[in-house]
Amino acid sequence: MLTFKRALMAAAVFLTMIFLVTRSHPSPGHTDDVSSSSGNSRVMADDYTKTGNNPTTPVSTSSSAGQIGNGRKGKGAQQPLADFAKAPLREKLLYQFPYDVESKFPAYIWQTWKYTPASGDFGENFRPAEASWSEKHPGFIHEVITDQVAVHLLRHLYASVPEVLEAYNALPMPVLKADFFRYLILLARGGIYSDIDTHALKPATEWLPESVPREAIGLVIGIEADPDRPDWAEWYSRRIQFCQWTIQSKPGHPVLREIVANITLETLKKKQAGTLKGFKDNKVIEFTGPAVWTDVIFDFLNDERYFDMTTSKGNITWKDFTGMTQAKKVGDVVVLPITSFSPGVQQMGAEDYDHPMAFVKHEFEGTWKPEELRHIGVTTEEQGK
Ligand SMILES: *[C@@H]1O[C@H](CO)[C@@H](O)[C@H](O)[C@H]1NC(C)=O
Ligand SMILES: *[C@@H]1O[C@H](CO)[C@@H](O)[C@H](O)[C@H]1NC(C)=O
Repeated sequence: MLTFKRALMAAAVFLTMIFLVTRSHPSPGHTDDVSSSSGNSRVMADDYTKTGNNPTTPVSTSSSAGQIGNGRKGKGAQQPLADFAKAPLREKLLYQFPYDVESKFPAYIWQTWKYTPASGDFGENFRPAEASWSEKHPGFIHEVITDQVAVHLLRHLYASVPEVLEAYNALPMPVLKADFFRYLILLARGGIYSDIDTHALKPATEWLPESVPREAIGLVIGIEADPDRPDWAEWYSRRIQFCQWTIQSKPGHPVLREIVANITLETLKKKQAGTLKGFKDNKVIEFTGPAVWTDVIFDFLNDERYFDMTTSKGNITWKDFTGMTQAKKVGDVVVLPITSFSPGVQQMGAEDYDHPMAFVKHEFEGTWKPEELRHIGVTTEEQGK
């Protein structure tokens, strides 16, 4: 029965949704800085930068390294997608969410939680962290998306890519949905995603070194783990693990497109095989978490569709990022040192919270109940670290 309270709630969700999807994109001067460094550098491939394989955005014209296009070879700018519904998933996502490296970083901050900050159930533990994002980012639109609103928002953003929605709805655990949501919202809208238990220490406008032009960067990531010890594999899934509790991107970045495609296809495969129901906690890292995130990023950095490999000294590997103390630019990606997104862990070379390069403070071991931790994407392995 549709009670009055339910009707009211539905109306509230609907209005929030309308608000989120109809509002025009904000464009405050988002001025990030990035410092580049040497090593195994990457020059963006011509195809990625110059061919108009991006059906709806203008092709960029500058010619320096770090130029970005979309990474499909030899396609013209006006490619009609005659039979869109049958197009492969990656093509659909490219068409729907084109990438323009020269656009501004959208001034959005996205977070997810079971409750909105207006709710008494929000959790006093999270209030200072949540408030820090608004305080440090005046002029940004800061949204805490509840699970209920997320469903509606995604239904709108991904209406023309129904397999993505089918996968999202099929995911059997909140932690999987929370992981997937961050990639989905960043692919569609861009901006900053951060977990609800994460404090902003420095405004995002100060994350990138001055020397790195904002119009050449589309993705900013941090390091979660850099375990320089022989037995690292007993503790971590990758020798270098990129974190996904805080990510900044422009909409349509190929890394986001790829991880959305990957999780969608893997989920639908599992759904068909009937293996989703028995999905195990300890597989989250590989399925939607930092392991697959890290793999997709390395694959991108070594993908000749995006980078001109003829001048390359070999593949980019964990060796290019281990022990970093400064931000490193590779193509249109900036990797921040471990101190930036993981300060205060007191290992792996991370400095403390008051270090100038410490940008966010992620609560690894808080007072939160496991139930809550799982919602925000912290797995049991991570808790055990
Ligand atoms: C998803 O990514 C993982 C890690 O790179 C890879 O092993 C797997 O084959 C990918 N799956 C799909 C469907 O692309
Ligand atoms: C470099 O990476 C690509 C893609 O991951 C892989 O196919 C190739 O074998 C790697 N080359 C070397 C020298 O490791």
